[in-house]
Amino acid sequence: MENLKRPIKKAVFPVAGLGTRLLPATKVMPKEMLTIVDRPLIQLAVEEACEAGIEEFIFVISEGKDILIQHFQEAPLLMETLRARGKYDQISKIDKINFSDSALKFVRQDKPLGLGHAVWCAKDLVGNEPFAVILPDDTVLSDETCLKQMMGGYHKMGGNLIASCEVPIQDTSRYGVFKMIDRKDNTFTVQDLVEKPDPSLAPSNMAIFGRYILQPEIFGFLDEHEKGTGGEIQLTDAMAKLIRHQPFYGYIFEGERLDCGSEIGFVKAQIAFALKRPDLAPDIKSYMSQKLKEV
Ligand code: UTP
Repeated sequence: MENLKRPIKKAVFPVAGLGTRLLPATKVMPKEMLTIVDRPLIQLAVEEACEAGIEEFIFVISEGKDILIQHFQEAPLLMETLRARGKYDQISKIDKINFSDSALKFVRQDKPLGLGHAVWCAKDLVGNEPFAVILPDDTVLSDETCLKQMMGGYHKMGGNLIASCEVPIQDTSRYGVFKMIDRKDNTFTVQDLVEKPDPSLAPSNMAIFGRYILQPEIFGFLDEHEKGTGGEIQLTDAMAKLIRHQPFYGYIFEGERLDCGSEIGFVKAQIAFALKRPDLAPDIKSYMSQKLKEV
């Protein structure tokens, strides 16, 4: 069992999807480069990983998405100019997203065959150790970041851990859904997982949210490249198989979940994140109350 509690030092960011729900914004610009107030989604995700103690960041990218890597690489000309102009506040903003080549890894997914396939593409870079997966368009507004909360659970229980949140039962066909037992506080044991079930067949209204801590044995099942719902290679299907062999838990995190892969979630996130900024909140509040009077 101790073997299932090894420290998590690597995180995989599957960012090779097409982002069709946000077209035309995502026609050229990767969804993960769209910004929430001042930071691209991918930066929010990487900052969350850093806070949780991750040291190696593995991006699964597709053609045209190299800009996601560039965002975290040095920009000597920009730095030189900012230094010459004495813009030290801006320098510190750039400084903290400069990563060394050894910390930043990437692999290409040639075709968008599904989330399971994207994670499988990272197999060689992950190697034989447990790892985290973060979907950058699933954002959380919370005091302690979602992955850090999950790390607390992992240190106690080990095994595999998936972030979980309640969804309206009529929406289960949009999510991976848990069959759960033994709920204690914010954790439960996962008995089974079903991808996008019809509400009448859903085993619960607890859905998978885009944060995972997985043992490397998951790759054995992803190797099968089995197609599931929507003809895609689903991570949920591989996890459902791993459940029969290893401890598997759901973690109910604290915080507001915002689906930035959809238009409404993206707009809500702008407002929610801006209201958390002391320098912006007063203006946003007065603007919103003004607008609300007009509708
Ligand atoms: P989504 O289900 O949000 O798909 O993928 P998408 O392509 O990004 O967006 P829509 O639905 O067309 O609008 C969840 C995560 O899995 C990644 C996506 O980049 C996103 O972070 N993904 C999905 C891949 O990396 N590869 C895939 O083949 C599919």
